[in-house]
Amino acid sequence: MSGVLPDLASAQEAIAARGGDLGRPLYLLSETSSTNDEAKRAARLGAPHGSTWLAELQTAGRGRQGRAWDSPRGENLLFSVLLRCQGPSERLPLVSLVAGLAVAEAVERAAPSAVVRIKWPNDVVAVTSAGRPKKLAGILVETSMTGDDVDAIVVGIGINVHTRTFPDDLAEIATSVACVSDAPPDRARILADVLERLDRDVAVVLAMGLGPVHGRLTKRDALRGRRVRSERGEGLACGIDLEGHLVVEEATGARVPWNAGEVHLV
Ligand code: BTN
Repeated sequence: MSGVLPDLASAQEAIAARGGDLGRPLYLLSETSSTNDEAKRAARLGAPHGSTWLAELQTAGRGRQGRAWDSPRGENLLFSVLLRCQGPSERLPLVSLVAGLAVAEAVERAAPSAVVRIKWPNDVVAVTSAGRPKKLAGILVETSMTGDDVDAIVVGIGINVHTRTFPDDLAEIATSVACVSDAPPDRARILADVLERLDRDVAVVLAMGLGPVHGRLTKRDALRGRRVRSERGEGLACGIDLEGHLVVEEATGARVPWNAGEVHLV
């Protein structure tokens, strides 16, 4: 555990106290290329459901659409959880929504006065007093396959916790728990909260669909009622449906489920 800052020393205990399956075992790493790589490698070697890798620094952290995920050493939460849950493969995209919900609820607990929302499909944002969403966390779900079968699901989560100053290109669009909280955030508690919530919801959603969490998701939908744009076009976001699509009212008046891609507020 050398190279891991002392505030995370209580993480194992905090996780065990919740009594769930995720975060056990928890591997605390000073540095790695990407915690998703650690989890995928271990998945191939048979690591059990719930195993979690957390690093203080990633040298090749990655986000969606081939983007890099950079984070200064020791300031934030960078971790990946290995899930071995059963469920039809068409429900896999729901995992990032459930993870977003877990992160949003955990951050809201750490920063009760902040307005924390989920920006479909897998960002968690804090909405400023001017109504602008700023990204707090991102989720990258990857799978480890054996032939055609999903052998394990890797949920990679990056949460900006302590960072207060962002590079120029991100300053207007990124934020952190510290920036939206009145009290200094506690990384171990946020981690334990995320894992507890993810544990509670993910198996249910893979088995039954989004229904059981749909109300909570809708309450935190950053896009609902806003005009959005993607490579598909433009329209009014009407909510997330039970299949996990973003439903958009397009110019024709038709409500169309959008199921992939990058969505921007107009
Ligand atoms: C995104 O917003 O594009 C997703 C970002 C996901 C970043 C996390 S940090 C921990 C895990 N390891 C990675 O390399 N990526 C994810």
